[in-house]
Amino acid sequence: MTDTLATDPHRPAPVDVVHHTHLTGVFAPQREEVDVAELRVVGEIPGDLHGSYLRNGPNPRFDPIGSFVFPLDGDGMIHRISIADGKASYSNRFVRTPMVELEEQRGEAIWSGVMDGYTPPASVVGDALAGTTRQLPDINIVEHAGRLMAMAEGDKPYLMDRTQLATLAQEDCDGAMRVGSTAHPKIDPHTGEMVLFNYSLEAPYLTWSVVGADGSALRSPTPIDGLDKPIMIHDMALTQKYVVLFVNPLVFDLEAAMTGGSLLSWEPERGTRIALIPRDGSAIRWIDTEVFWVWHFANAFDNPDGTVTVDYVEHLFPGGLTKPTGVNNPALTRARLNPSTGAVSRTQISERTGIEFPRVDDRLLTLDHGRIATVGKSDADDGFLESLWFHDVNSGRDEVFSPGVAIGEPIYIPGDGHDYWGAIGTDPEDLKSRFYILDADNPADGPLATIDLPIRVPAGLHGTWLAE
Ligand SMILES: [Fe+2]
Repeated sequence: MTDTLATDPHRPAPVDVVHHTHLTGVFAPQREEVDVAELRVVGEIPGDLHGSYLRNGPNPRFDPIGSFVFPLDGDGMIHRISIADGKASYSNRFVRTPMVELEEQRGEAIWSGVMDGYTPPASVVGDALAGTTRQLPDINIVEHAGRLMAMAEGDKPYLMDRTQLATLAQEDCDGAMRVGSTAHPKIDPHTGEMVLFNYSLEAPYLTWSVVGADGSALRSPTPIDGLDKPIMIHDMALTQKYVVLFVNPLVFDLEAAMTGGSLLSWEPERGTRIALIPRDGSAIRWIDTEVFWVWHFANAFDNPDGTVTVDYVEHLFPGGLTKPTGVNNPALTRARLNPSTGAVSRTQISERTGIEFPRVDDRLLTLDHGRIATVGKSDADDGFLESLWFHDVNSGRDEVFSPGVAIGEPIYIPGDGHDYWGAIGTDPEDLKSRFYILDADNPADGPLATIDLPIRVPAGLHGTWLAE
């Protein structure tokens, strides 16, 4: 391999890190990897709480070149807070893709951001990696059938070692993820199955797969017919009967991209198409409705009358990724879908808007959940997401916990006696990170325990609780 990186005339310029919102402050990448036992705790960690919270998020290994678009770009970093016997410890590791490993050998970024189309030549990265783009297993971390996986979008995940958090290899789950996977597969707590979809720029544009509780592929990638163009779908919902996919009209426009235009095109005139895909493999029911955008679903379930309830955060459009931009007012929304008639009703189920990252007790996936937690702003509105909102779906009551710091996705933590909510927050002033543990029944009462994390955890994306 010849050292031509510095002289490659096509190598993009460094990103202006210092002035980049998502590379500074609470978003600044963390380059340290540490293992620290016995963290300082304010309050008391409940004695019935045993397990680990793991969280992934964009965290570029080196200062990026070309472009950096949050949350699309970055390398993955897994943060782990382990709790046992009233004590907590912390570890963190990069997800070491071949790109990260080669960049570590060189001590600088080689691959650029996803939006600028640069791929390093063979003279820099060797024949095997020539023409590749950066792999991005930085969105979620999921455990299923003994596999702990750092999840990318539209790509295979990376298998992680559960003890050391070492990166092992790319994983395709017995072929179920052969063509890639959403970063948000759903695990049915009753059957133990993991159900997933994948979108692709080439036909078939959409497939779905099932991994059995034993880790074997129960359904290899199966085409979902009915799309005339490739579309972007970030998340999915699952009921006991159906895989639910919302096809919001964010279309990949390869022609535009090749002539210098935007790769993603928002085409509201197409409306939203909802696919109810029977898990038994029978015919897909397509339902058409008004245009809107969804990043994340909370949960879904079948009703006794055959209708399907889907709770999610509804946006007017995918702000940030494409035009239009402006006030989006994402709102917690309940859709009721009638597979027989094709009727759709959509109701806002919390007055609070500007929320995201909806989570429920994962043991209730595919069942009526009752409670949803989200991240949002308080009435004070400091300009960043500094509150956890807890929505009682049945009463419509909202409760809030506002620690006054930038706070991340909540996680539901089942204990032996009680249940809890947890979340990582980072103070934008002193940049210290903490893990908050709240009583699941009284989250607005404030933390039972606040665990000081030894290093700053950048504001990130999705996590999971592993019981031990
Ligand atoms: Fe996500």
